[in-house]
Amino acid sequence: MRLVMIGAGYVGLVSGACFADFGHDVICVDKIESKIEALRNGVIPIFEPGLQKIVEDNQNAGRLQFSTDIAAAVRDADVVFIAVGTPSRRGDGHADLSYVYAAAREIALAVTGFTVIVTKSTVPVGTGDEVERIIRETNPAADVAVVSNPEFLREGAAIADFKRPDRIVIGTEDARAIEVMREVYRPLYLNEAPLLFCERRTSELIKYAANAFLAMKITFINEIADLAERVGADVQKVAKGIGLDKRIGGKFLHAGPGYGGSCFPKDTVALVKTAQDYDSPVRLIEATVAVNDTRKRAMARKIVAACGGDVRGKKVAILGLTFKPNTDDMREAPSLAIIQALQDNGAIVHAYDPEGMAAAKELLPGTTFGKDAYEIAEGADALVLVTEWDEFRALDFRRLGNLMTSAVFVDLRNVYPVREVTRHGFIYHGVGRRN
Ligand code: NAD
Ligand code: UGA
Repeated sequence: MRLVMIGAGYVGLVSGACFADFGHDVICVDKIESKIEALRNGVIPIFEPGLQKIVEDNQNAGRLQFSTDIAAAVRDADVVFIAVGTPSRRGDGHADLSYVYAAAREIALAVTGFTVIVTKSTVPVGTGDEVERIIRETNPAADVAVVSNPEFLREGAAIADFKRPDRIVIGTEDARAIEVMREVYRPLYLNEAPLLFCERRTSELIKYAANAFLAMKITFINEIADLAERVGADVQKVAKGIGLDKRIGGKFLHAGPGYGGSCFPKDTVALVKTAQDYDSPVRLIEATVAVNDTRKRAMARKIVAACGGDVRGKKVAILGLTFKPNTDDMREAPSLAIIQALQDNGAIVHAYDPEGMAAAKELLPGTTFGKDAYEIAEGADALVLVTEWDEFRALDFRRLGNLMTSAVFVDLRNVYPVREVTRHGFIYHGVGRRN
């Protein structure tokens, strides 16, 4: 089949490359010329494990192409996926759909023959209706079906998530589109991915409900972590103890500095806004958003307390800046708010991240960046693990202890057993655990 991805970002590029890997002919279109030029030359603009090879292999096989020309790409397509950004709209927190609607207009002008237009971007309920209206208004002769097919991949594990998803949700009641979408995803049947067909609005709501539920689950365990600290319990064992109940499940119960990233923060707020508009508030998610917002500054207070209550003039070394490991994405990373709060309190912050430093340098002026954990630890009064990259999982605490001014370790991801750190003379502070 001939597929087109509009938007060659995290979702469009990964989906396009994986569809090509399954044998489809794919053109990824983006309006940023430098991005397309780089991709044509084999340079991947994002860090995503395994992506480089899949892109290269499929480019060489002639199944994956990159273009800035929407019209030419769409003309011969069977299916056009809209995978552009839907960031928070400045001012009110609703999803900004201007990129989606602009793409819909451009697609409408170029389609020929029956074409399935698929919204893969995360969009509020009713967006499919508006995309359809725009297309019909722009080109009344267009023969299209507009389908919702939200994406559930996670950054850092995007290829495995795309190729072996827990489910594929397809929102359409159009019989022709159902057949086309079955064909698009047929290669994934072998991986036993269930296809869930439903109405378009239901599909749109599934995406927000899934992200909101996961964000709520993380926020729940974060509050239990705070309580565990007060009452002298261990949140990791609580998580295990509740997670073994199959009705609860053990995933997304890792306490930490609060969720970040390009999706949970914006999608929870957008769901709250939609629900308010329909006079059907989602109070659990309103609370989730509020609790998560306050958590990042609370983490900064935890670090200040670990430094004896005052960080003025003290050096704090931060390990990990991206919102999670295995990505270079700094969008809504907890590190941003934590570092800002530490600097507001007079701390001198040195930081290191394996993949996020290029973006972090722009976002965190006033921070000094080092080349590894040991360089930034030199002369530090506290070492803080914010993002759990693999290379921070086996730190040499003896070496760190010799380098640092005070042996204080704040482990915001509970990566280390307490004893492993304290036996080297460190004072350990985790999240929801006894020190
Ligand atoms: P992104 O910002 O990485 O990429 C979007 C791309 O679309 C950009 O390169 C931009 O230049 C391009 N673009 C915008 N308008 C265009 C147009 N008219 N024509 C051609 N290109 C255009 O965004 P992303 O992280 O890939 O997210 C895309 C959507 O997928 C969002 O709605 C997001 O919520 C959703 N989503 C993201 C993830 C994730 O892990 N990042 C996972 C699931 C769903
Ligand atoms: C999330 C969802 O997991 C994907 O299913 C969804 O497709 C995507 O959002 C999206 O819509 O964009 P992603 O943001 O890439 O994926 O990463 P996650 O692994 O979900 O992590 C999100 C945040 O939650 C990170 O800051 C992470 O550190 C935090 N988190 C996650 C925890 O604090 N504890 C956990 O147990 C899990």
